[in-house]
Amino acid sequence: MLPFVILTSLAAHLLLVKVHAQASINTPYTPPPASQGQTASAKDTPNRQWANLLGNSLYFYDIQRSGQLPQDFRVSWRNNSVPDDGKDVNIDLSGGYFDAGNYIKATLPLCWVLTQMAWSGLSFGHGYNAAAQTPYLDRALRQGLDWILQASSVDGEVVVFIGKESTDNVYFGGDQNIPTNDRPSYKITRDNPGTDVTAICAAALAAGSLLYNGTVLPVDSTGKLQEAADMKDEAYSTQLLTRAQSLYDQAQNSLPQQVYQKAVPEVAWAYASSDFDDNLILGGTFLALATGQQNYSQYAQSIYSNSSYGYPVTSGALNWDTHQPAVPVLLVQAALANPNLNINADKYRAAAEVYLDPLVNKKMDGTKYTKGGLFLIPGDSDDASLNPALNCAALAVIYSRLATSGSKTNSYLAWARTQVDYALGNNPAHVVYSVGLHPSSPKNPQSALATGSSSGSVDNIDTDPPTERWVLYGGLVGGPAKDDSFSDRRSDYRETEVALDYVSPMLVLAAHRLAIGDTTDPFYVTMTEPVSSGGDGGLSIGAKVGIAIGCIIGFFLLLAGLAWVFRRSIKRFLNRRREPKHIPLEP
Ligand SMILES: *[C@@H]1O[C@H](CO)[C@@H](O)[C@H](O)[C@H]1NC(C)=O
Ligand SMILES: *[C@@H]1O[C@H](CO)[C@@H](O)[C@H](O)[C@H]1NC(C)=O
Ligand SMILES: *[C@@H]1O[C@H](CO)[C@@H](O)[C@H](O)[C@H]1NC(C)=O
Ligand SMILES: *[C@@H]1O[C@H](CO)[C@@H](O)[C@H](O)[C@H]1NC(C)=O
Repeated sequence: MLPFVILTSLAAHLLLVKVHAQASINTPYTPPPASQGQTASAKDTPNRQWANLLGNSLYFYDIQRSGQLPQDFRVSWRNNSVPDDGKDVNIDLSGGYFDAGNYIKATLPLCWVLTQMAWSGLSFGHGYNAAAQTPYLDRALRQGLDWILQASSVDGEVVVFIGKESTDNVYFGGDQNIPTNDRPSYKITRDNPGTDVTAICAAALAAGSLLYNGTVLPVDSTGKLQEAADMKDEAYSTQLLTRAQSLYDQAQNSLPQQVYQKAVPEVAWAYASSDFDDNLILGGTFLALATGQQNYSQYAQSIYSNSSYGYPVTSGALNWDTHQPAVPVLLVQAALANPNLNINADKYRAAAEVYLDPLVNKKMDGTKYTKGGLFLIPGDSDDASLNPALNCAALAVIYSRLATSGSKTNSYLAWARTQVDYALGNNPAHVVYSVGLHPSSPKNPQSALATGSSSGSVDNIDTDPPTERWVLYGGLVGGPAKDDSFSDRRSDYRETEVALDYVSPMLVLAAHRLAIGDTTDPFYVTMTEPVSSGGDGGLSIGAKVGIAIGCIIGFFLLLAGLAWVFRRSIKRFLNRRREPKHIPLEP
């Protein structure tokens, strides 16, 4: 009896310590049913609908969790999974996040996501606080950062990937039968470096360290919007900073500086990277802010001046791979946050604007728009059309009030609004691209977790079951085709797959609206067009005619035809889920 009492009080004590370190949840949040997306909110703050969008977006990261789930976990249909991840390298890597619709873990895109997540809190802390979402931001960030701490826990090494193409693209079942025998851990080392992944890990940890020490990054010159996200944890902040510094040192000094797929070719099928300079600049800038030391800002700026990439950039995508457009925006914020860092705000304002001006004036090289108004960067927008548009919108809102003129501020905000409105229903297919937010949201996002397949085989991806079993709240799908149509078919990975990095710009965008106290509802609340009834809501006229003809010819022919169509797209999905977006630069 006594040992039992001691044990339980010890457990309670440990629990208390842990709960104390995290921001406590005073207002628990679970996503409301999609029908609530049709209810206009009262004209007050925080706007209930923007708060739900922020809340759902963070809930998506809960759904994507791997490993042991906490006791008070919000997602009733998720189970503990992959306890053996990392055993092959003697590190517990069971936690963290599943990257996308399947079960790989990928460090490079994860660190970009965590960087963007932290950046949203550093810039729009008031939005998170007002919506009572800060404790969930804390948990989402910690789940990722803790895993990065694990993945980099052996000095000089970073685990950069878990999983294999051959397994990942065959299994499409739930979280209880994930094939665990074929999940190798791949790592870079000091002798076999991956400069990009090491530097972006340092960026994520340093950005997290800033957020946990109560830092605010300025988003306007008056300081009116400055409020720290209420999630201070100094011990954790210090732990993150120490690791960030040693990783950055490694990125700087392990030679040759090179992209990580040179060291680990096995990652190239999923996430080959095209450059490391951008990661070094972001990492150096966040570290300059977190340490207050000029040598970091000096190094970051000398990379900027020397880079063969040619700063300042006037075009190109912002995404998990290429961060060049984000670089001057962060440097402006850093210059204003700490004048001792010796960063010239005006120089980087000019650099930010040579990118944003052509963007919002619709004159950026190599870009176009769909008829319905979605911004496209051919190549980068092919796999997930919403992602480049929403990332640019996120950048535009962070920078908007730091611009050199009020008219620029307005034009950046107006352009961002067009893209956010498009994603939230103002599009020809009348789709609200965040899952579970509105009756017109996608019903069949490509997600092995949410599908509830009984066979677990990718061969039956669209039919087993016909409509997805669980609602993947907050998941943002790839987006429409170039003709603004949307298939809502799981095998169509370009349009329906979800991923950690598709949702992270939405965190910035929703937190922004809440931070400025916008009382106007998101577009979807007032949508008047008929709501799609599910599966074929966004099919083009051509596809509908095709199906009708199929019915006339006969049920069996239709089945054969569908099987043929699906096999092709499945094959495409198998062979090139995510290709490198650019030819890797030679150092
Ligand atoms: C979690 O386990 C339950 C009970 O076995 C199962 O019904 C459910 O489908 C599992 N969830 C996932 C995501 O596989
Ligand atoms: C966070 O860390 C920075 C850099 O050391 C320091 O200047 C700042 O005062 C810290 N902020 C808080 C709120 O502790
Ligand atoms: C800056 O100086 C510190 C020691 O004060 C050192 O640990 C760090 O590596 C330096 N950073 C760079 C980018 O040189
Ligand atoms: C950038 O170029 C200058 C001049 O060649 C050189 O001194 C400096 O070390 C370079 N910086 C980096 C980070 O390579």
